[in-house]
Amino acid sequence: MDKLHIKGGAHLNGRIPVSGAKNSALKLMVACLLTDEPITLTNMPNLADTRFLAQLLETLGVEVYWPKGDSTCHLNGAELKSTIAPYDQVRKMRASFNVLGPLIARSGHATVSLPGGCAIGARPVDLHLQALEAMGADLRVEQGYVKAAAIHGLKGAHVNFAMPSVGATEHAMLTATLAQGETVLENAAREPEIEDLAVCLNSMGAKITGAGTSKIRIEGVEKLSGTTHSVMPDRIEAGTYAMAAAAAGGDVTLEGAPVAALGAMIGKLREAGVTVEADEAAATLRIIRNGSRLKSVSVSTQPHPGFPTDLQAQFMALMSLADGTSIIRETIFENRFMHAPELSRLGADITVRGQEAVVKGVPQLTAAPVMATDLRASVSLVIAGLAAEGETVVNRIYHLDRGFERLEAKLNACGASIERRSEDED
Ligand code: UD1
Repeated sequence: MDKLHIKGGAHLNGRIPVSGAKNSALKLMVACLLTDEPITLTNMPNLADTRFLAQLLETLGVEVYWPKGDSTCHLNGAELKSTIAPYDQVRKMRASFNVLGPLIARSGHATVSLPGGCAIGARPVDLHLQALEAMGADLRVEQGYVKAAAIHGLKGAHVNFAMPSVGATEHAMLTATLAQGETVLENAAREPEIEDLAVCLNSMGAKITGAGTSKIRIEGVEKLSGTTHSVMPDRIEAGTYAMAAAAAGGDVTLEGAPVAALGAMIGKLREAGVTVEADEAAATLRIIRNGSRLKSVSVSTQPHPGFPTDLQAQFMALMSLADGTSIIRETIFENRFMHAPELSRLGADITVRGQEAVVKGVPQLTAAPVMATDLRASVSLVIAGLAAEGETVVNRIYHLDRGFERLEAKLNACGASIERRSEDED
């Protein structure tokens, strides 16, 4: 298993290109199940998660042409050969569950494993199933699998979600494109990745309006065609590097950044005393902190356009170095503070009380061996390690490879000193 050795203390100076968004790419890839024509996705992030989904799609019969390291991925679902998504492929990555609705829409039936819980919480799929049932799918849960059929086809439906769920909104939207009649999704999630998916589906001939608002209308069509679509830039990756620059100090410009999607984070960084120059037209975000101390700022995670849960761990790393006390509230997932004890190993002063973490800023963090627990938690340890005195070793970094493309290369190009070593090298 690989580890990262981070020599802390260097300021970051330079430019970092932002990759395509993992969370968008995963749903865009699934869209290939809805058509027998080829789909080409450009600006694709090369990540463990996107490669993993490509394998599942291949299992279902999709022809995937995506050379290693290439940012263009060709998907051709002309002939599906299976409608079964096995446990091992869904358990490892929750987004795989989103093949269920598209498979029913395309083939009339499907058998997809339930994803189960994950490190950050129970994460049920009841809202996904509610939407599919409303569209006329007959669902049975047997031995950990959802067995679904829609013998008479899927029909448009009115779905009012009890809470906004990104995955359920996207799943329902994908499925409704081929249902007969109109589907209305109320209390839909408003994350920018949902808009990206709607743009792609509309370019395939779908009729979706309102994506990005809490009410989405989808007028079902008989057939979708192929398309070429560029994956939107990753707002979480951009936000992560912004916080790395703020924590380490220096002057970093993020290129190709989805500035409009990062409003809540930009506001919090400015409150913390970081200079942020945001240029939406040029798609750049410049982060500057030279010498000044960080101010503590409290934050509560919220569905978009609020502060994203996927940046909560990174913000906690930053606040552990601020003057004063900040309260960080997690409202989306019930168990998303696993990074707190690891940050404490680096000298942070954090007390977790239920859904709140009280972070008392310390003047300096000091290096220690730490363990990555989930994707975003892992990168918060990298941020802390960059600012800490000495050499921090982050273990179990396979989590990082799920969601961050060329992380060491991008940060080292700005003056960081991060080295990947395998266990045997120690
Ligand atoms: C997506 C993102 C993830 C991000 C999350 C919230 C992807 C691949 N992942 O995850 O990075 O952290 O949005 O922005 O896009 N819920 C239910 N029932 C359901 C579905 C969800 O109770 O059927 C709950 C979840 O447990 C959670 C909340 O709703 O507490 C929000 O989850 P959701 O928006 O669905 O997150 P994901 O789509 O899984």
